[in-house]
Amino acid sequence: MRFAIIAPPVPTQKWKEDFEKLAPDIPLQIGLGTDTPEDVECVMVWKQPKNALKKFKNLKLIYSMGAGVDHVLSDNTVPKHIPVCRVVDPLMAFSMSNYILMAVLNHQRSFYDFQKAQQKKHWAQFEFNERDLKIGVLGTGHLGMDAANKLNHMGFSVFGYSNSPKQTPFPSYSEGEIDTFLSKINVLVCTVPYTPKTHGLLSEKLFNKLNEPTYLINVSRGAVQVEKDILAALDSNVLSGAFLDVFEQEPLHQSSPLWHHPKVQITPHIASLTYPKESVIQVLESFDLIKKGLKPRFQVDHEKMY
Ligand code: GLV
Repeated sequence: MRFAIIAPPVPTQKWKEDFEKLAPDIPLQIGLGTDTPEDVECVMVWKQPKNALKKFKNLKLIYSMGAGVDHVLSDNTVPKHIPVCRVVDPLMAFSMSNYILMAVLNHQRSFYDFQKAQQKKHWAQFEFNERDLKIGVLGTGHLGMDAANKLNHMGFSVFGYSNSPKQTPFPSYSEGEIDTFLSKINVLVCTVPYTPKTHGLLSEKLFNKLNEPTYLINVSRGAVQVEKDILAALDSNVLSGAFLDVFEQEPLHQSSPLWHHPKVQITPHIASLTYPKESVIQVLESFDLIKKGLKPRFQVDHEKMY
């Protein structure tokens, strides 16, 4: 029996070190190459090559090395009968929420205006008021809910949206109520998973339902946003600004006008990083449960993709 890490675009050294510390008795292979693929029973994956998993005939568990699983399930050759799990980690939520809070607070306190004033050695006292924010968290799953609860606790007006109804200490909306949700807010934080339903969701059609202007923060997936529509909405002041961590094409192309747009803040898909040690612990726990004939933790639905 062997585990494998198949994650061609990302560094795996730390995963390997943590795995070897936590499971010294389980052999681990990095990458696809092996003479005995039938020995591999668990794979940890990040953007595995299409078709790659088919050769592991005795696979029992596929684990995404992150919160999202779209990169795993976009390969339709991934066997449907094998459980796919994702990392659900308080540290990841801590990191994601801090990113969202940072983006919200910079906007609320007009930080970018003060930066500009500083460059001109201009004392901009009393020129900018605190903004009255109504923050909508679109996608109150594990990560979105953590951020929404923290923002609510800090005293912001928060509104949540998720596919299924949720009990929350702030108003929450679910399927069929997106227009009402959008009508309440002037900051839109997007934390949805990427699925066929969320493909291109942040588009002109949705922006037209927003209060003008609304501030956009997207930490979900690039394919959820339509960048030409974001640019048009920024230029027509439908959006007052955008804080983007994800892009249709990553790395963001040098020629993208987003790089230099005065109302746009960009980070390179780092809103929340996966902590290998905590993740490996989850993989080992889930594998153990499967071996005992039980359901693994944090399993995703192949169809829903979350
Ligand atoms: C990162 O984008 C993840 O899905 O963990």
